[in-house]
Amino acid sequence: MSRWVNENKRSHRCGELRDSDIGKDVTLMGWVHTQRNLGGCIFIDLRDRDGVTQIVFDPDIAGAALGLAAEVRGEWVVGIKGKVRSRGKNANTRISTGAIEVAATELEILARAKPVPFPIENEVNASEETRLKYRFLDLRREKLQKNFILRHKFNQVVRRTLDANGFLEVETPFLIKSTPEGARDYVVPSRVHQGKFFALPQSPQLFKQLLMVAGYDRYFQITRCFRDEDLRAERQPEFTQVDLEMSFVSPEDVQNVVEGVLANIWKELLDVTLPTPFERISYDDSMNRFGVDAPDMRFGLELKDLSSVVKGCGFKVFVDTVANGGVVKAVNLSGSGEWSRKDLEELEEVVKPYGAKGLAWLKIKEDQTLQGPIAKFFTPDDQANLKQALSLKVGDTAVFVADRLKVANAALGNLRKHVAKKRALVAKDQFRFVWVVDFPLFDYDEEAKRYSAAHHPFTSPKPEHADKMLSDPASVKAQAYDIVLNGIEIGGGSIRIHDQALQSRMFEAIGIGDVEAHAKFGYLLDAFQFGAPPHGGLALGVDRIMMLICGTDSIRDVIAFPKTQKQTDLMLEAPAAIDDAQLTELAIKLIEAKKA
Ligand code: AMO
Ligand code: AMP
Repeated sequence: MSRWVNENKRSHRCGELRDSDIGKDVTLMGWVHTQRNLGGCIFIDLRDRDGVTQIVFDPDIAGAALGLAAEVRGEWVVGIKGKVRSRGKNANTRISTGAIEVAATELEILARAKPVPFPIENEVNASEETRLKYRFLDLRREKLQKNFILRHKFNQVVRRTLDANGFLEVETPFLIKSTPEGARDYVVPSRVHQGKFFALPQSPQLFKQLLMVAGYDRYFQITRCFRDEDLRAERQPEFTQVDLEMSFVSPEDVQNVVEGVLANIWKELLDVTLPTPFERISYDDSMNRFGVDAPDMRFGLELKDLSSVVKGCGFKVFVDTVANGGVVKAVNLSGSGEWSRKDLEELEEVVKPYGAKGLAWLKIKEDQTLQGPIAKFFTPDDQANLKQALSLKVGDTAVFVADRLKVANAALGNLRKHVAKKRALVAKDQFRFVWVVDFPLFDYDEEAKRYSAAHHPFTSPKPEHADKMLSDPASVKAQAYDIVLNGIEIGGGSIRIHDQALQSRMFEAIGIGDVEAHAKFGYLLDAFQFGAPPHGGLALGVDRIMMLICGTDSIRDVIAFPKTQKQTDLMLEAPAAIDDAQLTELAIKLIEAKKA
């Protein structure tokens, strides 16, 4: 135990000292970022969360500290005392403390360190595996520390803004019974009630609705949600939501509050003034124009439905697809540069994972005629119609997918995003927010041949569509809305059903019978019998928002201790086996094959 720390107080952080501090006696503590011995003088760059300060051990001043300074190595933890002096013409303009240095008179070694597996620098070339295994070292890097400082500020702004809008922060439980959000539940076995399991919440959805029934009027929580789903780039098995719910509101009321929160965040974290209200687009428009329900509207390359233009052309694939109820959709790639045959073959590989069987293309030659493998199938009239429908000019290239609507949209919607990224079509630091509204209430599951809730089963239909829920479910739109930023869904919400009869009809429409509904959500249906106010809300995905604010492609860069894509924690080596005694206590027997 070092008495030194009890007897000496830090006077400054390592990023704090400036010209105006010259002459002051200071005490600093931190990590040795670098140590250099230059002709008798020893220089240490001392680092903490706040920055780096150059410490000089000058033989004339440092005394016994000089010998100790010679001993220290990178990442040792030390305390120093000394006097601030000017660096004069040797000032380093790249760091905040670059005008000064501290001439040390005392050095205390507070902790030694083994050589680190990778240098603590912004650009490291260690594998992500190594960095995750030594996450506490990775987190020392300035780049990551900046992300977590921003994330801290994010939480403060959220709390301040929602408090000012009359919201109450209420905590809801983690050990619950399943709340469906479309993923699998993580389950926790009960020891006291052997053979029974808690589920971890996929969201606090039902609790926030119950809080509205309880009369809490406006609720929020910054909370963890747990979803056992296959991980993709923007997903983690546990992630954080700003979850909120309001009573007596329309969709616009919820959207206004959320815009206020986001505008304050962008102002305080990035000093960017967001224009409000945000743009709105209907789900149908988004699918038609962008092929996806989370449109990136920072660039063009919109999808066009050419089914009616090509249905009588000579290309059998197009004609048959339209005849069989499919569509032919296309994107004019104009503005994204030249597309060689090889480039176009690469694009075909981009659309295939979405189920597209091919990617036909056409170019407009200097003489205005079409070029490409399918050009010969178009009569001069067809060609003129195509050019008009796609606004094709000389030099332009258009790509086509003929398929079921779902496949054509997914293929071209994602191709659009791919092209924009590959050809750098979007300016940096551009933030394009859009509300996607009027989602369908139901999804049709082609395999199970039945409807399911598109969002979750507590979402209200648009009032004027409520009577079609059983007779024509496909046409029913929901009072549901997503907030999308630069093509990423950063939040979603809805006005809820607050009427027991309507909720029962919803369950009926998705094939959940009365008995099952009561077994799963009896408490909610009960609550609706005791005076439930009209209510609605939304949840923001904090991790995704932080990714966009921090300008990183990896969600793991904004989560202090994240999981890998394979749902493991490399530092903890979790998940892990538990011992037999624990299993016995829980009355759990593992299936032999899985045990290994
Ligand atoms: P939803 O399921 O749309 O809505 O989730 C809200 C937001 O949470 C983020 N998100 C995720 N972020 C990281 N990893 C994940 N696995 C993950 N899953 C979702 C997304 C998403 O927009 N209870 C409703 C909200 C409501 O209706 O009020 C809900 O959870 O950014
Ligand atoms: P093919 O007649 O099979 O040689 O195909 C001619 C061109 O049409 C190729 O560029 C294919 O990639 C493309 N193609 C084939 N099937 C489809 C489809 N369903 N949608 C769009 N293009 C297709």
